[in-house]
Amino acid sequence: MSTKEKVYSLLRHSNKPISGEFLAKELNLSRTAIWKAINSLKNEGHLIQGKPNEGYFILEESKEFNAEATLSHLNPNNRSHVVVYETIESTNTIAKQMAELNEPEWSLILSKNQTKGRGRFERAFYSPFGGLYMSFIIRPSIQLNDVNLITMNAAIAVYDAVKKYCHIDLGIKWVNDLFLDDKKVVGILTEAAIDFESKSFKYVVVGIGINLKLSKIPNDLKSIITDLNISDDFDKNLFVAEIINNFAINTTKSKLDIVSHYRSNSIVINREVFISGSYSGYAKVLEITDDGELIVETKQGEKIMLNSGEISLRRINHE
Ligand code: BTN
Repeated sequence: MSTKEKVYSLLRHSNKPISGEFLAKELNLSRTAIWKAINSLKNEGHLIQGKPNEGYFILEESKEFNAEATLSHLNPNNRSHVVVYETIESTNTIAKQMAELNEPEWSLILSKNQTKGRGRFERAFYSPFGGLYMSFIIRPSIQLNDVNLITMNAAIAVYDAVKKYCHIDLGIKWVNDLFLDDKKVVGILTEAAIDFESKSFKYVVVGIGINLKLSKIPNDLKSIITDLNISDDFDKNLFVAEIINNFAINTTKSKLDIVSHYRSNSIVINREVFISGSYSGYAKVLEITDDGELIVETKQGEKIMLNSGEISLRRINHE
């Protein structure tokens, strides 16, 4: 933990002011170091009261993205480093570099903006300010062919967090998107490095992009994406932590529990979709199997099972 994080943690867990002298002694630091940490916390938007004879007290935590605040809401067993960027190329790219350097599980990268946000199939992911771009590292011991389960877990973790804090019921579009009124609000990109010897994951990076409140949506994306239109006092740190906490709890559940929850909030079952992948064309979605695969029926009446690829709800209108 950095000095700032240590000071924050002591203040946050106290229900009365703590003196600079006590903080310095407790953390074995100089009074100047404490003063600097307090100033830097104030600059990040925390409202900290400092009274000469009493000490420091957090009146209000910052609701903007903030490493210490996010850390404070994370459950201990899924808490590691949190790094917040103003802007970055892609949180997934940084998280992968960190994972290669053996950074611990649950290391979390947050950014307010991405200049090279990536989606599946190397597509660009529109990532202006007003969104939430996050990636975290895990090292799961699940089977390689259960990789979709990780994306599904992330989808329901976000679904539940949005329901709890935005009171919105999103719809999940197989396999990695969440929609509101048939427009995308969340995209998930799961990237993994595999150890071929042991046929296991070296690491997995789960990247999630959420349109919280976008000041404007370009004309060419207006019919495709929307946002959650969050209120000004929305606590972004609590929301991010809820997603990670949900995800971690889900990892202790059975595959069937995850798929059932995912399936019950899916918006593709019984719908005509356009499929691009090993099969390309229109088809009706019949079901999502207990392994998370999609069973579709083509126009020719053929049933196909998909475990990767992309389905589109939009192109159906152009038929
Ligand atoms: C998709 O639409 O295919 C998935 C989009 C995933 C976007 C998120 S934003 C955070 C992380 N960093 C990236 O560059 N991509 C993911």
